[in-house]
Amino acid sequence: MDGSFGDRAAAYVDRVERCLDRALPPADLAPTRLHEAMRYAVLNGGKRVRPMLVYAAGECVGASPGQLDPAATAIELIHAFSLVHDDLPAMDDDDLRRGLPTVHRRFDEATAILAADALQPLAFGVIAGASELSAPQKVALAGLIAEACGSLGMTGGQAIDVGATGSLLGAAELEAMHAMKTGALIHASVMSACCVADALSDEETNGMDAFGRHIGLAFQIRDDLLDVEGATDVIGKRAGADAALGKPTWPALFGVEQSRARCAELLDAARASLGIFGDRAESLLWLARLIVERSA
Ligand code: IPE
Ligand code: IPE
Ligand code: MG
Ligand code: MG
Ligand code: MG
Repeated sequence: MDGSFGDRAAAYVDRVERCLDRALPPADLAPTRLHEAMRYAVLNGGKRVRPMLVYAAGECVGASPGQLDPAATAIELIHAFSLVHDDLPAMDDDDLRRGLPTVHRRFDEATAILAADALQPLAFGVIAGASELSAPQKVALAGLIAEACGSLGMTGGQAIDVGATGSLLGAAELEAMHAMKTGALIHASVMSACCVADALSDEETNGMDAFGRHIGLAFQIRDDLLDVEGATDVIGKRAGADAALGKPTWPALFGVEQSRARCAELLDAARASLGIFGDRAESLLWLARLIVERSA
């Protein structure tokens, strides 16, 4: 494809915004408070990095945007559910998300828990109901996403995060936690394109797999850095919240300089992983740079 992915990114974001809007129940459908909270949790200005990764990976492996919409939508719904739970008083106890009150602040705790509960099956319903996918593609995507958000992926990583708050971890333990709580869903975003593409070689699949792991980890280290270096009005979250809670983060354990160096190392490794795709990797590499250089 011609031109930089940057020129196409806004169109992909618009595309997934429309898919999300269609997938969510209308706010005036009963139970209205639950549906309002679900829509508030999803349609309130996220960066949509995971959907962009789905579409960029699709450009790399030759899958069309129409075939990728269900994965992009489902993964963003799972991500939104994870943020609602992450912000609850029992977890990070945050009152600001995307520059707005968190769901439990805007509504109430029970509604926030239930809205997230409902977003998760909605994601799998989107995959099951996707008319543009074959049955084997749906099964592959559902399995990929289930694994990424379950106890060996995002939810397991969140459990380790909660258990480790206030304690010191070694580099390997910290990276394992980051890879699970954040890396798994980023990795699944990239791999979802492989589930709908025509057969890829083992080398191509392994390249995408390694790329997804490297940028998944880099994404959380950059998030940790933004908590230290970012401003609340830019990141849309309360800056300094990790240190206030004694969260095990990369900068807390190893400092800002080492965190930046680790991000740069992961970006290099991510770039090397996609060597086999040549110029077709341009979109994913554009996003990889965004992930480690972003200011929000
Ligand atoms: C924040 O993710 C939570 C993490 C996994 C670090 P994003 O930075 O992608 O949040 P939004 O969706 O753009 O708000
Ligand atoms: C969250 O990590 C990872 C999730 C699975 C939601 P953080 O707790 O660092 O995310 P933010 O900083 O609140 O967005
Ligand atoms: Mg957290
Ligand atoms: Mg948090
Ligand atoms: Mg964070």
